[in-house]
Amino acid sequence: MIPFSPPRIDQAIIDEVTAALQSGWITTGPRTKQFEKEIAAYCDVPAVLAVNSWTSGAEMLLRWFGIKEGDEVIVPAYTYCASANIVVHCGAKVVMVDVGDDFCINVDAIKKAITKNTKAILPVDIGGYPVDYNAIMGMVQSDDCRTLFTPNNERQQHLGRILVLNDAAHSFGAIHEGKKVGTSCDFTVFSFHAVKNLTTAEGGGICINLPAPFDNLEIYKELNILSLHGQNKDALAKVQKGNWEYDVVDAGYKCNMTDILAAIGLVELKRYDSETLPQRKHIFEKYAKAFATYDWCIVPAYKSEWRESSYHLFLLRIKGITLDQRNEIIQSIFNQDVSVNVHYKPLPLLTAYASRGYKMDDYPVAKALWESEITLPVYYGLSDKNIDTVIHAVVNAYQSVMKTVAI
Ligand SMILES: Cc1ncc(COP(=O)(O)O)c(C=O)c1O
Repeated sequence: MIPFSPPRIDQAIIDEVTAALQSGWITTGPRTKQFEKEIAAYCDVPAVLAVNSWTSGAEMLLRWFGIKEGDEVIVPAYTYCASANIVVHCGAKVVMVDVGDDFCINVDAIKKAITKNTKAILPVDIGGYPVDYNAIMGMVQSDDCRTLFTPNNERQQHLGRILVLNDAAHSFGAIHEGKKVGTSCDFTVFSFHAVKNLTTAEGGGICINLPAPFDNLEIYKELNILSLHGQNKDALAKVQKGNWEYDVVDAGYKCNMTDILAAIGLVELKRYDSETLPQRKHIFEKYAKAFATYDWCIVPAYKSEWRESSYHLFLLRIKGITLDQRNEIIQSIFNQDVSVNVHYKPLPLLTAYASRGYKMDDYPVAKALWESEITLPVYYGLSDKNIDTVIHAVVNAYQSVMKTVAI
């Protein structure tokens, strides 16, 4: 069976994790701090905070900005549930908008959805393809948007506009306007979950990139404290001689990364540009070349003049099929011992959001994408032979379900 996306656990990872365990320091410590510095350097951002997941980190940011009942946060209908769940947790309203043909949030739809209650926008780089950050940042910085914005606290006053929190769970290492993802929005949050391009088993990274008058290094310190109960000294500081006493400056959260996880991340980062990304790109190119020869396939966009994917998810679409046929094709692919997936079942189809009144028909592009999409395996260890097997399985499945001969 060809798996969908197994992690790359080799001797280098085992050695570094073992070294972390043997160092006697297993929670947040020197490896986490080193990982943060290296991610910040890689993304060329002022500061990065490592956390234990995208979800807990991004939710902490919404709460830090004071998002609460009565506020609205704009989220695409086509994303993973976490992007919207964190808004619900804060008691705010999820304002869903449709996406474009590239799976990314529709910027015109955002414009129409903005009200005086809008406090944040969460654009999602689906599959690792960056959204048009310039269009979104330009919109929130426009006079119209600034005038409409109604700050409720000092942080919101300082920003003076809608916060843009980029859901970059998929797009670590992707390129936007010649720069690595992380520098364009107020906050950019990566996921280092087990299936992601760069994993720490579970984890996340927050790129802090707020405009003046915010001091990003000060905000890092604030968020670092907030991610650890609001305690003004972390475990490492407390073990220094006689340094036991601490204060709790705010009722904080608990989402710090541990050194065991950072050990995995340090190894992954070292080989990310030299091994991980080139192999993922190679797989994308082989799939793209093969499927472009079939007129029933829509190959996902992954590179243009101004953006390049992190090659996270290969989102193949099949033209002119029903949802049932898509599901039959998936079953047939699995029957040929190839694992595939679907990214994503749009939020309005999930009970949690359908029961809150969201309707799939209000998001026609998201609906069409979901009904025709199949995500193919992409991972470091996928050999050329495996890639050919996947391509063959998809073509075979299509032909047998549609009872046709592919062109
Ligand atoms: C688009 C998107 N956002 C957020 C998340 C949540 O990431 P994490 O599992 O690190 O909390 C995921 C996870 O798959 C995701 O796909």
